[in-house]
Amino acid sequence: MSTVALEMPAEHYTEKIKELKDQKNAVILAHYYQRPEVQDLADFVGDSLELSRKAQETNADIIAFCGVRFMCETAKILNPTKRVLHPNPESGCPMADMATVQGVLELKQKYPEAAIVSYVNTSAEVKAISDVCVTSANAVKIVSKLPHKQIIFVPDMGLGNWVKKNIPDKEIIIWRGFCPPHYEFGLSDLKALREMHKNAVVAAHPECNPKVLEHADFVGSTSQIINFATTTDAKNIIVITEVGLKHVLYKKNPNKNYIFPEAMNYCGSAVYCCTMKGVTLANLYTTLKDEVNEVILPLDIIQKAKKPIEYMLELSK
Ligand code: 13P
Ligand code: SF4
Repeated sequence: MSTVALEMPAEHYTEKIKELKDQKNAVILAHYYQRPEVQDLADFVGDSLELSRKAQETNADIIAFCGVRFMCETAKILNPTKRVLHPNPESGCPMADMATVQGVLELKQKYPEAAIVSYVNTSAEVKAISDVCVTSANAVKIVSKLPHKQIIFVPDMGLGNWVKKNIPDKEIIIWRGFCPPHYEFGLSDLKALREMHKNAVVAAHPECNPKVLEHADFVGSTSQIINFATTTDAKNIIVITEVGLKHVLYKKNPNKNYIFPEAMNYCGSAVYCCTMKGVTLANLYTTLKDEVNEVILPLDIIQKAKKPIEYMLELSK
């Protein structure tokens, strides 16, 4: 059920949302790609791995999850007795939608010895048939810890190729899915940005095209990019990931200059995820007030999908 955007100033929502959160013992979790005003209001902002950990630890009765559907599903799988609310149930991840249970099972028939490794950016149903989940922060670490020599990696070609490059002794069979905002940013786009900012270093998310990753100075998840930006001596950093990360980068290190591929500052392709931006203060407010947009999953799927997520959390310690 979608919610209607109300015409009220941001401060009004902020105050009302804080009141509702206290009244209802709710916690607000938000991904780094969320709108700045949503990030500012959240109790915790993080990458996919950190958010899964927070979802596992929380004592709140309600989790209002500001992110895309697979993230809300992960929170529900880890907390089946809690109410997980998704402010915009239409906000899915196009890459997660590219992997099907049927297709993954066909691959497993072809490679029966292989482990099925699912990026958390998958549906609960795909997780339910997986051996282990990974995020961009731990994929290389987890795949290298598995005893399997053959890996079916679902659904991201960008991260899959990055894992393959870092673990050359395993056979990685990669599903041909991709993140449209990251993958469509090409090498010519990167060259154009480098040309405009000659003294900048480049940090890129592993969902990017392998050609872009080859030319990056640093490759990592959103939280790893934040760490890199904090510790590098470089003052100018080209950041190839979704533009939502800019907000936290400036908050943490305001004295540096972050260059994102945005339509305004150059003529190449921008890295902007429309569905991540589908959560607003207005729909977060209505969702909490009316306690609607609850994430509901079948119990058997929850039980099966919990195993690979918990296995990931254990292996990534
Ligand atoms: P991370 O924050 O885990 O790097 O994930 C990025 C992403 O695309 C989430 O949809
Ligand atoms: Fe999906 Fe890419 Fe958007 Fe993340 S940034 S939610 S992977 S489409």
